[in-house]
Amino acid sequence: MKSKDEIEIAEPADVEIDSAFAAGAAPGQAANASPPKAARKPHAVRDRDRAPLESPAAVEEEVVFDLSLRPRSLDDFIGQERLKKILGMSIDAARQRGEVLDHVLFAGPPGLGKTSLAHIIARELGVNLRATSGPAIERAGDLAAIVNDLDEGDVLFIDEIHRLARQIEEILYPAMEDFELNIVVGKGPGARSMRLAVKPFTLIGATTRSGLLSSPLRDRFGQHFHLAFYDRADLSEIVRRSARLLNVRLDDHGADELAGRSRGTPRIANRLLRRVRDFAQVNDAAIVTREVALAALELLEIDACGFDRMDRAILAAIIDKFDGGPVGVESLAAAVGEEADTIGEVYEPYLLQEGFVARTARGRVATPRAYTHLGRTRRGPLL
Ligand SMILES: Nc1ncnc2c1ncn2[C@@H]1O[C@H](COP(=O)(O)OP(=O)(O)OP(=O)(O)O)[C@@H](O)[C@H]1O
Ligand SMILES: [Mg+2]
Repeated sequence: MKSKDEIEIAEPADVEIDSAFAAGAAPGQAANASPPKAARKPHAVRDRDRAPLESPAAVEEEVVFDLSLRPRSLDDFIGQERLKKILGMSIDAARQRGEVLDHVLFAGPPGLGKTSLAHIIARELGVNLRATSGPAIERAGDLAAIVNDLDEGDVLFIDEIHRLARQIEEILYPAMEDFELNIVVGKGPGARSMRLAVKPFTLIGATTRSGLLSSPLRDRFGQHFHLAFYDRADLSEIVRRSARLLNVRLDDHGADELAGRSRGTPRIANRLLRRVRDFAQVNDAAIVTREVALAALELLEIDACGFDRMDRAILAAIIDKFDGGPVGVESLAAAVGEEADTIGEVYEPYLLQEGFVARTARGRVATPRAYTHLGRTRRGPLL
């Protein structure tokens, strides 16, 4: 394998990605509270995903907020019933047999609970979690060092795993399959290849783009879970739970209104709750009722479908600038001033699932629902 050349164990591995763990931070904070320079920066999506809270301070605030509301156990984790049942079963079985849990892959749009589930699994298994992310691992040696450092049964969580460089990915294959690292010591003609046994561990991968994962990597995960958007009832329960944790008085109608406008996404539900809490506070509203929620959402320009300005800009661009489509994602991105990746990963999945946009071989088209939502009429028979 060509990747072997890349590993130089003599060189100290860049362990910066895990420094927060070394400093005794709780699992989860390492990856989230202080993102490593390489982990988030090259990838605009992670920050954009947090729009409309654009400033770094607002993003930081949201990260802290996310952490404080993160469910700690499978019982705390609301919705995704089938996934919880299967996962709960394999966790119990692994625990009973005293074996290491099979590798797990979580796929799905941002904010649906992939990172939360990884931490829950580690907690339920009673093992440590090492968190890193695809773009943070720059050299094969970094990954080899991390894997070599794991204790038996530990969880290695790799977020954005589809962004792992291919030659680094190849280090994972024998590590996942046989708990072995193939490493090369030295350089040039004197280089020697060595096999190093590592302790059995569980790899948990998370991706917003499972389609971009190479099939050898995907095939090595024993369990694949796709996280679906949440329904209104689950989201309502999620905001009610968050409101309890934050000491916000929220009635059932207020919770339902927030749930209906959260784009099927718990992170957005929590974000809206926080904004509504601010609104209620400055307006002296003791309880967040439907009226209070609606007034706050109107101020935030979140419409009845939960769409924000960018969602509406995307729909309006397809209809007004491209005559309803089909339009390629790059042209669409240029028209709305957003990155194509962000449109594909953050905005489009919900618009597709709700039937406002359809994807054809030639590009995206606006559906009749999109026309109705924006109050546009369709010009002439297009087909
Ligand atoms: N099922 C759930 N029940 C309760 N809260 C949830 C649930 N899923 C997610 N959340 C909340 O949403 C927040 C975001 O979830 P999380 O960070 O796990 O998403 P993610 O899928 O890893 O997103 P990304 O792809 O952006 O990394 C969590 O902090 C948590 O508060
Ligand atoms: Mg995550």
